[in-house]
Amino acid sequence: MGSLRSRLTAAVMMPLLALAMTFGGITCWMIHTTVSTASDRALVGSVTIIGRAIDTRVSVRDQILPLAVHLLQSRATPVPHYSVHDGNRLVAGTPWLVPPDDYDPRPGAKMPHHAPAGFPSSYRNTRLVSGYVDARDAEGVIQPAYLRDAVLEGRPVRIATEIRVLQHSGRPVAIQVADFLDDRTAYEQTYFLRVVGAGILIVMIAVLLFYGAITWGLRPFASLTAQIEKARKLTSSHFRLALAGDAPKEAHLLVRAFNELMMRTERAVDSLSQFTANASHQLRTPLAIVRVHVDVLERYGPSSPQGAVALADIGAAVTALERLLSQLISLARMDEQEHAIDPLEAFDLTGVTSNLVATRVAQADTAKMDIGFEASGNPVMALGHAVLATEMIGNLLDNAIRYNRPEGAVTVRVLRRNGEPSIEIEDDGPGIAPDDREKVWERFYRAPTADAPPGSGLGLPIVKALGERMGARVTLAEGRDGRGVLAIVAFRRAESRSDTFSDTYHASIA
Ligand SMILES: Nc1ncnc2c1ncn2[C@@H]1O[C@H](COP(=O)(O)OP(=O)(O)OP(=O)(O)O)[C@@H](O)[C@H]1O
Ligand SMILES: [Mg+2]
Repeated sequence: MGSLRSRLTAAVMMPLLALAMTFGGITCWMIHTTVSTASDRALVGSVTIIGRAIDTRVSVRDQILPLAVHLLQSRATPVPHYSVHDGNRLVAGTPWLVPPDDYDPRPGAKMPHHAPAGFPSSYRNTRLVSGYVDARDAEGVIQPAYLRDAVLEGRPVRIATEIRVLQHSGRPVAIQVADFLDDRTAYEQTYFLRVVGAGILIVMIAVLLFYGAITWGLRPFASLTAQIEKARKLTSSHFRLALAGDAPKEAHLLVRAFNELMMRTERAVDSLSQFTANASHQLRTPLAIVRVHVDVLERYGPSSPQGAVALADIGAAVTALERLLSQLISLARMDEQEHAIDPLEAFDLTGVTSNLVATRVAQADTAKMDIGFEASGNPVMALGHAVLATEMIGNLLDNAIRYNRPEGAVTVRVLRRNGEPSIEIEDDGPGIAPDDREKVWERFYRAPTADAPPGSGLGLPIVKALGERMGARVTLAEGRDGRGVLAIVAFRRAESRSDTFSDTYHASIA
């Protein structure tokens, strides 16, 4: 896996190494060509100078030797070997550096001509005489300096040869200077080694510099890692990452995202434990009632007056338990479905609502109530989910009935508000106190009223969650003349044909 630091160092060093190797390769090639050209030039230059120094009037040996030695010693390239043959006789230099095979030592002999060594770039603007810059160099020259490769003493050599005719004797003189090629290679190698050494040193320094720079750059992340490691040992979920102000933007973004996530997790954990505590408390109350009344039944029997009361209370407690369980199940389903329901379907809001109202009207607890239903009589198509909408409207209708006066009125309307398919449920009960209007949306919250009917405080949170899943807006307002509650649910429009039809129809009867 490796650390981020070593990965980054490797990522930077790989291309750098490739560059260094390319650079090294190019440098070695340049050293090779430079040494070859420089050595060849030195050979040609040496024969030319030795050749010119040969004065026909003075002894060749006396003049050549000091000059040649001085010349050859002053060279920067590998020390060459030289020889001067007057006719066939070696007059100076190394005996093994023999004249070329086509050299003819006889006076006036004709010899094959070789193309003179040329280094045109140096003499681009100069007129050459027989390949020489200075016309005096060319005097008496029958073969200007040329280069050839040979094997002498079992070693490959590079030889520059010049042939002149001595004016006093008419004899040809072969002047030769040679380099052993393996000397050249050794000479090149010393340069190669220096280049490679310098390259390795530069790469090592670069590794150190990059490693330091990367360590410095990653310092904020190292600090985050250390904080997270420390936090793993904590039991509390209350933990936030902190960064120095000069840390890079990316690190701050990461920390912000992490802290937000931690905050959300903390809230989720808190609300879950709160929910569990509330739910178990709610479940415990009716269960305690059942337990007490079962004791009463055991002691007095079911046909006693106490037994009859106990049975009725057990029935009420079981009903409350049933309702609580069904609300909890609804809520759990909502929590499971975290996002909007997809796909939403078109459903008839009038049909759903009128069925609900009809069912409720038929129940005993609404016997004395005035429950009204107002609709155009035509389908009002909404986008959502019929079963979920039924649950939503059912909860609101249930509240309007249960928190109302015993002989109060409830009006349910299906209509279009600003073109949106909506329902209104209005009651004329005591309403919700201003302080409680926000709180009633919280899970398990119940307004502290003296004679409140049994309930779990989950109805409105379920309505809210259902509204969010279907993209419907739910609002609670005051009823007419400031009495009771007016609950409004505005659903999303369903762009269906029947909806268009109903719109037109509605408009025509209006
Ligand atoms: N129409 C209303 N009139 C007066 N008070 C209301 C009305 N609707 C809701 N409330 C208040 O809001 C509180 C929360 O209502 P909600 O429907 O969430 O829970 P519940 O009715 O107590 O229990 P549940 O619906 O889960 O059985 C109620 O306890 C009640 O005090
Ligand atoms: Mg309710």
